[in-house]
Amino acid sequence: MKRIVEPELLDELPADDPHARRSRQDLRRVNFLMANAGLLARELEKLPPQNPPLKIVELGAGDGHGLLQVAQRLGRGQKFEATLLDRQDLVTDQTRHAFAAANWSIQTVTADVFDFLGDGARDCDVMVANLFVHHFEGPHLERLLRGIAGRTRRFIAVEPRRAAWPLFCSRLLGLIGCNIVTRHDAVVSVRAGFRDQELSALWPEPEKWNLSERAAGQFSHLFIAERKGQG
Ligand SMILES: C[S@@+](CC[C@H](N)C(=O)[O-])C[C@H]1O[C@@H](n2cnc3c(N)ncnc32)[C@H](O)[C@@H]1O
Repeated sequence: MKRIVEPELLDELPADDPHARRSRQDLRRVNFLMANAGLLARELEKLPPQNPPLKIVELGAGDGHGLLQVAQRLGRGQKFEATLLDRQDLVTDQTRHAFAAANWSIQTVTADVFDFLGDGARDCDVMVANLFVHHFEGPHLERLLRGIAGRTRRFIAVEPRRAAWPLFCSRLLGLIGCNIVTRHDAVVSVRAGFRDQELSALWPEPEKWNLSERAAGQFSHLFIAERKGQG
């Protein structure tokens, strides 16, 4: 299946558009069906424990609910300081309180990802992305991966898997009540998703990194990059 990247409606609608709000609610269910929070949490659990808070950045964090699910799965052992980056300002006070209850301190940044990654002060222990990297292709995707590799020692991305089964299921989201925006974007996202070693092939200076890329769960594609020599 050839990779096709097309605009997603949620990216173009104003944050307070009723269809966009509803679609973000749908996204929570889509993330649940994809089991993405569990996939991310399992990878974060493998990181060596640290005394100072672990600095984590989520790119394209949306309303923050996805990372909150991860925080709630991880328990309170390791302290996290999270930066949630998105082009839209979507994180509510309720979500902030829920992060605090999970012992995570968070800050939000409203900016384009390339401006954010261009700022040298953003170094962190681990960067994550959930349903975000598939928005990019060609030189933009290469620039995104270069920017990430320059800012972190570890990167974990959970993306749609571009394959027949996820595509088939993405066409059925109307059955669980997802709205027109979600139904459109789900199909577009699977077509723009990844498979095989596509992200590894684009990762800069691969000889300096341990790269792992595989199908995960029913619908997802998991990519992990870890700089060699990191504890
Ligand atoms: C499909 S949503 C995923 C949101 C969240 N990670 C989740 O799983 O619910 C993609 C998010 O990426 C953001 N986004 C798209 N392009 C962006 C860019 N160039 N810079 C920053 N954020 C961007 C959108 O605003 C949107 O919130």
